[in-house]
Amino acid sequence: MKKIIVAIDGYSSSGKSTMAKQLAAEVGYAYVDSGAMYRAVTLYAMRRGLVNPDGSLLTDELCAALPDIRIEFRVVPGDAASHTFLNGEDVEREIRTLEVSSHVSPVAAVPQVRHALTAMMQEYGKTKGIVMDGRDIGTTVFPDAEMKVFVDASAEVRAQRRYKELLAKGDEVSFEDVLRNVQERDEIDRTRKESPLRQAEDALVLDNDNLTREQQAAWLLETFHRIADA
Ligand code: CDP
Repeated sequence: MKKIIVAIDGYSSSGKSTMAKQLAAEVGYAYVDSGAMYRAVTLYAMRRGLVNPDGSLLTDELCAALPDIRIEFRVVPGDAASHTFLNGEDVEREIRTLEVSSHVSPVAAVPQVRHALTAMMQEYGKTKGIVMDGRDIGTTVFPDAEMKVFVDASAEVRAQRRYKELLAKGDEVSFEDVLRNVQERDEIDRTRKESPLRQAEDALVLDNDNLTREQQAAWLLETFHRIADA
């Protein structure tokens, strides 16, 4: 069986990470959550006062700070999933808050941020045997990925999913705020100049509005074997 790169792209909260993580575990591949990397840079910017109260960014300062931002994924005791570390600190919990979500898309639209993170991602993929999820993995990061999946679902279904996740973590959020955030991020991600979110021409589309997790996982695994075993 040859080692391949699996690129899973799609809209916010479309369930990409869950399916990417599961597939990676099933086939013994590494999983890289590219959104977590953009979220970590956003948290760094927020902590350094590089995000203005109106949401605009101190872009030049952020770009100058990029060489000081170190992002890693590490396995931690008591959790099967690896955590995101920002300059040595476990920020897994903090990067998933609605506050970080509300600032991440403008940060991810800055070309220098994208170039820096894309280079890191391409490094991870050098040895193949990787599942990566995001917005532009199949189009920009790994345009030659052997397996590309584009996940779609309606904004309401996606917001409902994210709302439940945040409530389960104890975050006090309203469904309306989560829905607004999902829609705003979709819009910014889709219309930015640098590497906008779009379906790669050779991507397989997975519309998961009406699929259960089990059905998605089965489809993904079957597709993986069809490509990797060929
Ligand atoms: O978890 P969710 O689907 O809500 O988003 P995420 O995958 O954690 O990504 C957070 C944000 O990072 C997205 O809304 C994009 O603005 C940005 N992102 C990106 O621009 N390119 C990627 N490859 C991954 C994420």
